[in-house]
Amino acid sequence: MIKPITSKTKLSIIETIVEIHKRCVLESNSPWYKPDVISEWISQISVKNVLDQLTRSSKWIILEEKGKIIGFAQYSLVEKELFQIQILPNKQRKGFGTTLYKYIEKDFIKNKVKTISLFSTLNPINFYKSLGFEKIRKISYPLVKTKVELIEMKKELNIVY
Ligand SMILES: CC(C)(COP(=O)(O)OP(=O)(O)OC[C@H]1O[C@@H](n2cnc3c(N)ncnc32)[C@H](O)[C@@H]1OP(=O)(O)O)[C@@H](O)C(=O)NCCC(=O)NCCS
Repeated sequence: MIKPITSKTKLSIIETIVEIHKRCVLESNSPWYKPDVISEWISQISVKNVLDQLTRSSKWIILEEKGKIIGFAQYSLVEKELFQIQILPNKQRKGFGTTLYKYIEKDFIKNKVKTISLFSTLNPINFYKSLGFEKIRKISYPLVKTKVELIEMKKELNIVY
């Protein structure tokens, strides 16, 4: 079941998504990046950061399986951007990421967005390709001390009016 997160969502739910995000970086992203990048990246994932971003234009959604949160996503209809999809490492490759993406794409289509952009980490490129995204260019996203290498990707939605 997919549910939106709002400013009224319980703190324990925000803590769970922070935990899922950290586990994804530690277990799924870490083989692709240097240890100093991973440790700086992890240090930036916090409840405060999520709460700060809830007040901006981005939407957060969680995915539950049997009442437990197994993944989440963040995107912005205003910026026409998918910021992240994170699925617990032991629940990956079972179609859950695709389920979250399809929900998000429907929301973009409903809101007449024609092109979705994202900046993918290096590991899920094939996941996004399987959903119809194309690589645009490599970018180096600066943290404070290190930089994260990301790939800009786009998908045209071909809406027929
Ligand atoms: C990327 C992620 C969201 C994908 O979610 P998922 O539930 O594992 O993906 P799905 O099961 O829906 O995969 C759909 C298809 O994408 C492709 N795919 C997904 N993960 C892949 C991988 N690691 N390597 C190659 N192809 C992959 C496959 O074609 C897959 O279909 P298949 O399993 O039938 O071969 C998830 O693996 C994840 O949370 N990774 C860590 C966090 C991350 O990097 N998120 C993206 C940040 S922008």
